[in-house]
Amino acid sequence: MEIKEKNVTLKNGKAALIRPLMMEDAPTALALLQQAPAELPYLLREPGEMKEDSVHEVHMIGEHSDSPNHIQLGAFLDGELVGMVTLERMGEYRKIRHRGKFSILLKKAAWGVGLGKSMMSAIIEAAPTIEIDQIELRCMSSNQRAIGLYEKMGFRTWGILPRANRRTNGCTEDETCMVLAL
Ligand SMILES: CC(C)(COP(=O)(O)OP(=O)(O)OC[C@H]1O[C@@H](n2cnc3c(N)ncnc32)[C@H](O)[C@@H]1OP(=O)(O)O)[C@@H](O)C(=O)NCCC(=O)NCCS
Repeated sequence: MEIKEKNVTLKNGKAALIRPLMMEDAPTALALLQQAPAELPYLLREPGEMKEDSVHEVHMIGEHSDSPNHIQLGAFLDGELVGMVTLERMGEYRKIRHRGKFSILLKKAAWGVGLGKSMMSAIIEAAPTIEIDQIELRCMSSNQRAIGLYEKMGFRTWGILPRANRRTNGCTEDETCMVLAL
């Protein structure tokens, strides 16, 4: 089923567009993925860890733009791609195919005006189009901004995985595991 694009008005009065990413978005999506770890310390990958994976992910943008297992939406401000939100089926087996793995990133310059919330609403709304009715995520426990947003969208914490992340400076950090049943 086709996922429609959405025009949203942000808290600062600006307009943003949220729409499925397409093959032609791959170069800008790759640039966003490569730049993001330097300014967003809560992403899984650290700066310099992007090359192989990001190329793979950008291939996925083209291959999966009409996939039954994957939704990837981009957020655009003044025509520029500033954020991405993804929902990916956990697996093909019948027992788990209702579950989707969620991830989001947004350029820092676009934070705090409701765009993160709009991106989440859009992907939650789109989940039933690929028959996903449970959204799951994992988040570094110090990422209070993201956890605040997830709670606002109805997610609940079901567990904490101790020492799930180890930064290059050797410090470890717990991971908060959250779920939303639609
Ligand atoms: C998480 C992220 C998407 C939020 O985007 P955003 O556009 O700033 O979020 P919004 O402006 O829509 O804020 C939504 C809600 O978050 C919550 N929130 C914001 N800042 C918060 C804070 N410091 N503490 C707790 N909750 C907070 C509030 O509930 C807010 O709603 P309100 O403004 O109506 O009160 C964005 O910060 C981001 O991309 N971070 C880096 C990448 C990342 O951490 N990804 C998640 C990895 S699991």
